[in-house]
Amino acid sequence: MEQQIAIVTGASKGIGRAIAEEFAANGKYVALISRNSEQLEQVVKELNERGRLCSAYQCDVSDSNQVIDTFDRISRELGGIDILVNNAGINSRRTIPKNNEDWLVNFRANLEGWNKELATNLSGVYVCSYIGSSHMLKKGQGIIINVSSIKGKEPTTSPGYGSSKAGVIKLTKDFAKALAPKIRVNCIAPGFIDTGMTSELPEDKKESYRKIIPLARFGSTQEIAKVAAFLASENASYITGATIDVNGGYLMD
Ligand code: NAI
Repeated sequence: MEQQIAIVTGASKGIGRAIAEEFAANGKYVALISRNSEQLEQVVKELNERGRLCSAYQCDVSDSNQVIDTFDRISRELGGIDILVNNAGINSRRTIPKNNEDWLVNFRANLEGWNKELATNLSGVYVCSYIGSSHMLKKGQGIIINVSSIKGKEPTTSPGYGSSKAGVIKLTKDFAKALAPKIRVNCIAPGFIDTGMTSELPEDKKESYRKIIPLARFGSTQEIAKVAAFLASENASYITGATIDVNGGYLMD
């Protein structure tokens, strides 16, 4: 089989890095994308030293011009695009205030957080899927995997994050329907995973979450990467438009 070219966004650390490592270990050529070029170059260097085939591409997924240029470059340099993982995400942790005084004081900052989360977490997925699928269709096939969150399903104190992640689940279905049968589009909704994003949580809050997770622990980035590898494989050939919960049983629906 011809070597597959996979793009993973937000691959400089956390879940994105683990997915890139898993794909490269499975023999794919991986284009790692992130805003942060220094950290990204370091990851690529470490993977290359272990014999993995991959390259770094600095790109902000919330900037559509950068996405168009970067995907063009990847397609030209690597020979098309077969797989896209929309993993890049941010959480500004801007909350809905509970009293009127806070509302007035923090409104602009909260709105800015909302706009940034929507721009990266939702518009970024839309733009990357739109542009990525146009490259895939040149080969007549492709696979898109989105990364949502439990916070796209349950109420959250960070409404921009939660709404953007709910939107990703919906967008998965819209693209899956539009692009079938040539391109399969699926989504992973992780629960609490040990990464930089959750390390910001205070220890007592983490402990209280662990108590209500049936599997009694946070997940690892590799446990998400394995599911991404499954969705990217022929084993998932009859799955499209689906969102797979990987949350230790925290949320069951
Ligand atoms: P992280 O904060 O460790 O890494 C995020 C990555 O995205 C970094 O490489 C960062 O540079 C990149 N990134 C952020 N904004 C970007 C942009 N505009 N353009 C390009 N790259 C950008 O995050 P983590 O924890 O690995 O999360 C990855 C994904 O998984 C996110 O979409 C997150 O919402 C989701 N998720 C994470 C959970 C967790 O418990 N860590 C739980 C549920 C979902």
